[in-house]
Amino acid sequence: MSANVKLFSLAPVGWKFPADRDGLIFTPGQFFLVGRWGVGEAPFGGASSPFEKGSIEIGVRKAGNVTAALHQLARGDEMTIRGPYGNGYPLDFFKGKDVVMVTGGCGIPPIATLIEYIIARRELFGRVYLLYGALTPDDLLFEERYKHWEKHIKVILTVDKPTPDWKGHIGLVSELTREIKIDPVNTATAMCGPGPMAAALENILRPLGIADRRIFVSEERKMSCGIGKCQHCTTGDKYVCTDGPVFYYDQVQSNWD
Ligand SMILES: Cc1cc2nc3c(=O)[nH]c(=O)nc-3n(C[C@H](O)[C@H](O)[C@H](O)COP(=O)(O)OP(=O)(O)OC[C@H]3O[C@@H](n4cnc5c(N)ncnc54)[C@H](O)[C@@H]3O)c2cc1C
Ligand code: FES
Repeated sequence: MSANVKLFSLAPVGWKFPADRDGLIFTPGQFFLVGRWGVGEAPFGGASSPFEKGSIEIGVRKAGNVTAALHQLARGDEMTIRGPYGNGYPLDFFKGKDVVMVTGGCGIPPIATLIEYIIARRELFGRVYLLYGALTPDDLLFEERYKHWEKHIKVILTVDKPTPDWKGHIGLVSELTREIKIDPVNTATAMCGPGPMAAALENILRPLGIADRRIFVSEERKMSCGIGKCQHCTTGDKYVCTDGPVFYYDQVQSNWD
């Protein structure tokens, strides 16, 4: 996907991932604990269509031990997976509303799967925007999906450092708000991205007049058990693994640096 991020497709052998009543094998924003025997496991958001039963895609940024071990795997090698865990984005709340998705760098996997969900149920949503920023054009992930997404939603991309052939925006995601037209009292926002971007949310969404309780933020913490038993993932008095990873903006805002 980029120099530091690889896309993995996990396909169970001899069975399929079970779906719920709505046909979902996970809710966009939920995560899986994926790993290698003898090394360990780490949390990753599902990135593929949540309706796809034959495989789950995850985008993995090389950060430390587990992710480096995953990057060494070749096609056909075995991985461990458990989940889905956590709450995911509140899809029923999003229905009937304009939707703004804001993300940066490699925060996009949970947003990518939310986009796939929205496209599959497009008639249930109003105007839908993706605002996505990265350092350079090469750091923008899921490039191969943009053409398909653009047929259904408005995709607005920006980079800090353009290449000579770059035709999108230049600068921060927060500067893209003037590009969108929404009804603020009937808009839901999904956000996933690095800490500084989360902290800059006020500059992004406040000018649009979107209330805090319409802004849903996916939090990242180091995890161990993934099921509320080990206290590795606390944010304030909440567990990211079981109370989140998706929170209302005002639930987690005070925990950002
Ligand atoms: C709900 C959730 C969803 C995630 N989804 C994705 C995803 O789709 N794709 C992806 O690439 N990554 C995702 N992450 C982050 C990913 O889990 C970490 O990068 C991974 O755990 C690092 O493991 P490691 O053993 O390779 O690195 P470690 O050796 O554990 O850590 C390497 C460095 O990264 C820091 N770090 C580790 N985990 C985190 C974290 N969760 N937040 C902030 N800093 C951390 C450590 O402090 C250290 O500096 C997600 C995390 C959470 C909690
Ligand atoms: S990861 Fe163990 S309590 Fe959340």
